[in-house]
Amino acid sequence: MRSVIIFFSNSGITEKLAKRIRKDTDSDIIKVLPENEYGGYVVSIVKMIKEKITKNTTRFINDIPDLSEKDTVFVGYPIWGGGVPQILLDYLSECDLSGKQIIPFSTAGASSIKGSLKKLKEVCKGGKIKYPFSVTKKNRGNYESWINKIRSAG
Ligand SMILES: Cc1cc2nc3c(=O)[nH]c(=O)nc-3n(C[C@H](O)[C@H](O)[C@H](O)COP(=O)(O)O)c2cc1C
Repeated sequence: MRSVIIFFSNSGITEKLAKRIRKDTDSDIIKVLPENEYGGYVVSIVKMIKEKITKNTTRFINDIPDLSEKDTVFVGYPIWGGGVPQILLDYLSECDLSGKQIIPFSTAGASSIKGSLKKLKEVCKGGKIKYPFSVTKKNRGNYESWINKIRSAG
């Protein structure tokens, strides 16, 4: 598996999971960074709502990567307002993901990853979404069996 992890994390929870995946799959890793920090929980929520209303999303500062050598892209994010944070959707929509296997993972207070997949699919043009995995406060999921399934599928 020639893989890369592309993730966004505001308060570090998704980042921790991303790093665990990196360790277990020997993937490259890209943390999508906002040009202005979102800030703490309440401030971020206010910003997210403002961005939704104005459609004026915080830009990322990362370059767009050359993914031609990769066959698998792990995509990680906190669930924001039930879905994928717009900054990550914006980043992914500029990446060439055609022909890639896209493996999404999310962390959240309570929301599962399910409600985020439709939008993710729309921006990962030509990619194939597989093995979505979510962690919530109540449901930690079974990380070991998930990662083993992916590793054995290659
Ligand atoms: C702006 C914002 C929106 C959020 N929306 C949701 C949500 O819709 N459902 C949910 O269960 N948790 C929601 N949360 C909680 C985060 O998904 C959760 O804390 C996540 O694990 C944070 O990951 P991070 O540390 O990688 O940023 C939200 C948090 C923020 C800051």
